[in-house]
Amino acid sequence: MKSYNICVIKGDGIGPEIADEAIKVLDSVSAKFNFELNYEYYLMGGAAIDVFGEPLPDETLNGARKSDAVLFGAIGGEKWDNLPRHLRPESGLLKLRKSLNAYANLRPAMIYDELINASTLKAEVIKGVDILVVRELTGGLYFGQPREKLEDRAYNTMTYTVSEIERIAKIAFEAAMKRRKKVCMVDKANVLETSQLWREVTAKVAQNYPDVTLEYMYVDNAAMQLVRYPTGFDVILTENLFGDILSDEASMVCGSIGLLPSASMGGDVGIYEPIHGSAPDIAGQGIANPIAMILSAAMMLRYALGENEAANCIENAIKAVLKDGYRTKDIAKFDAVEICTTSEIGSIISDYIKKQ
Ligand code: IPM
Ligand code: MN
Repeated sequence: MKSYNICVIKGDGIGPEIADEAIKVLDSVSAKFNFELNYEYYLMGGAAIDVFGEPLPDETLNGARKSDAVLFGAIGGEKWDNLPRHLRPESGLLKLRKSLNAYANLRPAMIYDELINASTLKAEVIKGVDILVVRELTGGLYFGQPREKLEDRAYNTMTYTVSEIERIAKIAFEAAMKRRKKVCMVDKANVLETSQLWREVTAKVAQNYPDVTLEYMYVDNAAMQLVRYPTGFDVILTENLFGDILSDEASMVCGSIGLLPSASMGGDVGIYEPIHGSAPDIAGQGIANPIAMILSAAMMLRYALGENEAANCIENAIKAVLKDGYRTKDIAKFDAVEICTTSEIGSIISDYIKKQ
């Protein structure tokens, strides 16, 4: 029997409760498709700060490095907000991404027909939305040096090299080839030098993909177009901070931030995590939506382990469960048959998998 080692980092806030549901679902899908998942649990973020005094202990990084994939919940919370930046929970996640060279962050945003009424946007605007945000994840303002906070001023550096742009652009074009063959590169080339470089490099990469249409869009315009005409987008290629912002926006087009998974790849080991944060305000109440986390587990099966059938099975089960009207609170508008807790919806998805 095939067997894989999964580094599980539940994290803070709602992280542990949604990770438990992902594991529940993984257990039923692995039993069904005859492979074994060995979970090893590690701490990161606030949970690690409390125990080790740092957000990414060596033990966790080593555990991640020797695993086949990292399944990660969410980190952060008020308790750790006033620590110096390098000791904040977020720094742990950023260091993990950088150390694993997880430069390519894929964030699919698509609307389930069943959830069309859960979005705050009109049904006719969002019907058929199917976007892949390809976010550069280990460069730009998040990592640029120098950076500093002084008494009377503070600064960060947005920096990109040609090779950093080239490798992520290739990922976007490869993805577009398997989709509707459109790449929209989002930048701020009317103001930023880094964006000018992104345009030059992306145009060169595009020459190798004559079937793909490349368009450029300024980020302010893209933010607007995403709510005006979201079906106009196929693949959005963009730098780290713009991708962070636009993917949150794309998630609300689809109904809830609790629905969007992500895969962060590029190095030997990928990180699979929902795009949302730790939502401390709702932690422990059993109302968090575990679907983004469960879909991230499906992406892990597909991209890290090559267990495509199992990944499809999870995605189909989620569709079926939504179709039958089961909803967590965030997506329960007027059409819910039943409002479920975090663990109930996890169990229902898991049961659908067993039945399928
Ligand atoms: C995300 C999150 C992170 C980011 C935070 C927690 C550092 O918002 O994955 O989108 O900004 O990348
Ligand atoms: Mn974000």
